[in-house]
Amino acid sequence: MASSGTHVFHPEKELRVLELYSGIGGMHFALDNAPVIKEQNLKYKVVLAIDINNVANRIYQHNFPDTNMSSSGIEGLTVKQLDKLKIDMILMSPPCQPFTRVGKKMDHEDVRSKSFLHLLNLLPRLSHCPSYILVENVKGFETSQTRDILLQILKKCDFTYQELLLTPLQMGIPNARLRYYLIAKKRPNSFCFSIKDQVLYDLPECVYHMLAYRQHAEIQDKKGKANTKLDMSGKICDQFMIQKDVSLTLNGENDSLVQKPSAECQSNQNVNMLCKTEDQSDVDKSVFDEGTKSKRPKFNNTYNENTEDRLREIVRQFREIENHNEIFRQVEDGEHISYGPCLQLVHFLETANKREDFDKFRVPDKDLKRFILMDIVNPCSRKSICFTKRYGHFMEGAGSIIQMTSDVQAVKAATDFKAHAVQTQNRDQWQEEEMEIIRRLELRYFTPREIANLLCFPQSFRFPEGLSIIQFYRLLGNSLNVYVVSILISLMLL
Ligand SMILES: C[S@@+](CC[C@H](N)C(=O)[O-])C[C@H]1O[C@@H](n2cnc3c(N)ncnc32)[C@H](O)[C@@H]1O
Repeated sequence: MASSGTHVFHPEKELRVLELYSGIGGMHFALDNAPVIKEQNLKYKVVLAIDINNVANRIYQHNFPDTNMSSSGIEGLTVKQLDKLKIDMILMSPPCQPFTRVGKKMDHEDVRSKSFLHLLNLLPRLSHCPSYILVENVKGFETSQTRDILLQILKKCDFTYQELLLTPLQMGIPNARLRYYLIAKKRPNSFCFSIKDQVLYDLPECVYHMLAYRQHAEIQDKKGKANTKLDMSGKICDQFMIQKDVSLTLNGENDSLVQKPSAECQSNQNVNMLCKTEDQSDVDKSVFDEGTKSKRPKFNNTYNENTEDRLREIVRQFREIENHNEIFRQVEDGEHISYGPCLQLVHFLETANKREDFDKFRVPDKDLKRFILMDIVNPCSRKSICFTKRYGHFMEGAGSIIQMTSDVQAVKAATDFKAHAVQTQNRDQWQEEEMEIIRRLELRYFTPREIANLLCFPQSFRFPEGLSIIQFYRLLGNSLNVYVVSILISLMLL
């Protein structure tokens, strides 16, 4: 059904948002960063955030001290309580265990689905039904019976909706996190794009136009104010916009990847705004290309000159070993999904003053024994696998491991060793000599801050003191990609 894109939400009115299964506040950060909220200056308030996990609530409260929180189970919510809150929008990530590929797939019969089913049951009985609903879950939810119940309820409550399966890789973010999303609007609201009665594997076309407008506005803004603060999501947005319509060319001697607008892009007035102009900040390109540095305006962003010099040096070293590293990569999780080049991981990494700063993140010898199962990346890589809540002790598929050495010989030796070890499956016989080959890769876990960066949490996101690194990994692994959700919130409100 093609729709006209009307919405009844009045820009002067305050949008009242209920955040369910709020965790560490990924949805709240996405709302804060949703392009449409910023551009149209929409007023909004998270009137209540609910989660039963007290550690998650501590992080949430640390970042959003003014938001009302409840640690009571969602299965205890009543019609009366919800009506009193006069909710306009519900943002929620219900527990995913009932639907995960590796789990028992108990679906609606799993006790962890109970609270979500309870909420769905309340919806048709509300006098003040919300106008917007966003649901995030794992791939697998789209074939569940719980999803069928969700759709039935939405139809009953006169919602129009779209389901999507998206990964941040499609948006230039070098981290796989294939997730199910549903965005729904209560009629007479309608979407600004044509609704499909099937799960979409890419964003609707209008998103590119919306982001083109955003970028245009940002350029104007930057021209006006020299010290505009760019946070992580702003930077990724730039990359996302160029990567949709670019051709990759090899840049002469440097052999570096430079993105150039395609002919199609140049010929289209609207899409043309997607292409970068010379005076835009592009750390990725500048790291390779000395020449552009002086032309770039100085923004007060995350990177200062020293950092850039260090990044350039890191990139130079890692470019040499890129080819060897392919053998350390695991296979991507999404079928049907196509995506262009992503930013390099270097942009998401912390820079340690001393090498020892990363010591507590080093992969210990006992885990190095499982080296052939690891997804090993380096700062030049443009992809990492999904970081799950099990990250931090080595577990296959729980997240990528970063290789800090830039010693080509060390990488070559480990590559050869891996090829041999895969064939012989003899890790019980590895001696000190073999272990030393792996140690020389200087493998470490990503830090919680780096994972938060890859999930596009803004730089303002803070970890409270007194919690362990493992607790941070667990909660980040449960969270979501803030940038992807911020785009979906915008799509709902457009
Ligand atoms: C997938 S995580 C959501 C993560 C969140 N969106 C974030 O950004 O961190 C699911 C959350 O639901 C919470 N939860 C599970 N069952 C619940 C229930 N019955 N009532 C309230 N919260 C619940 C868990 O504690 C967990 O934090």
